[in-house]
Amino acid sequence: MNTRSLGFVERLRIAVLLMGVGIGAIQVPSLAQKPTAYASFKPGAVWLADDGLPIDCHGGNIIYIDSLKTFYWYGEHRGEPRGAACYSSKDLYNWKNEGVVLKKGAIDVFERPKVIYDATRHRYVMWFHYDGNRYTVAELGVAISDKPTGPFVVQHHSRPNGHESRDIGLFMDPETQKAYIGYAADHVNRTIRMVELSGDYLSTTAQDTDIEAHCEGPGILKQNGVYYLLTSGCSGWTPNPATYYTASSLMGPYTSQGNPFIGDVGNNSFNSQPCYIFKIPGYKNAYLYMGDRWNGGGHADSQYVFLPITITPAGKMELHWYAEWNLNLFTPEKTAR
Ligand code: GAL
Repeated sequence: MNTRSLGFVERLRIAVLLMGVGIGAIQVPSLAQKPTAYASFKPGAVWLADDGLPIDCHGGNIIYIDSLKTFYWYGEHRGEPRGAACYSSKDLYNWKNEGVVLKKGAIDVFERPKVIYDATRHRYVMWFHYDGNRYTVAELGVAISDKPTGPFVVQHHSRPNGHESRDIGLFMDPETQKAYIGYAADHVNRTIRMVELSGDYLSTTAQDTDIEAHCEGPGILKQNGVYYLLTSGCSGWTPNPATYYTASSLMGPYTSQGNPFIGDVGNNSFNSQPCYIFKIPGYKNAYLYMGDRWNGGGHADSQYVFLPITITPAGKMELHWYAEWNLNLFTPEKTAR
């Protein structure tokens, strides 16, 4: 074989193959190579999609569509074109790039998109932080699509009941199918408000309360009738210690329970900011913490910190660090009796 006609990476690959008897599975990197299948989460590590490029999907959420047996991950596409990205997966580890499903176009700031599926109308509804360059517009925007992979079309944007709105969390109560948005609100996120959405999920209602939580990145889960609200502090792209709150009603009152990150030496939520809590279907009490490692700047290649959330028998929320973990940590529903 005339190796001179081959590129550097191919020649390196052949050289390693020739040398490699007994060396075991040596991976020779190549450009935009389809990644080997992942079988675990590695919080903070570079995470490639099926196209061989780092996943660019920040500040978002994951949904599971049972009829399609598919997970969809939405988030900020911080590379070009800016807007909302969508990735799909069958196992939460390996993600297919479904492209930019909403281009932000003339919107100055488009952040923290969150999608829910309206099973009655067979429609996907995306809420997002709509803002101007100086974050003073502070509105909620909403967009819809008939398909999980878009395109999503913006319907309207406004301040919920006149209140400032920036970082948002979206929660659909599995028992009532009612949806709520927790939003970092007035006086530049000095508080979080909770607002109930209309039955078609397209507008906010007058059920809108200051839940006296601080400050940003709200994520919500419900277990044994208790609502857990996880929030970050307020320091821009720089990570800070998180706080969680509990309540027996989603609209509050909430009680501060302190920092759930255990052994967090940097006191910065394992160098991440919360963006969502995903209840993993098929496993008992399995909650996925989705956090962004913004590295001080909200760049397209910012990493993700995905970790299991534990609710202890005493009802405390805890997050522990794992350099690598997988869903075997949880108990499958079928055997969980
Ligand atoms: C963070 C917020 C991000 C982004 C950033 C801008 O506090 O969580 O979503 O808005 O500020 O500085």
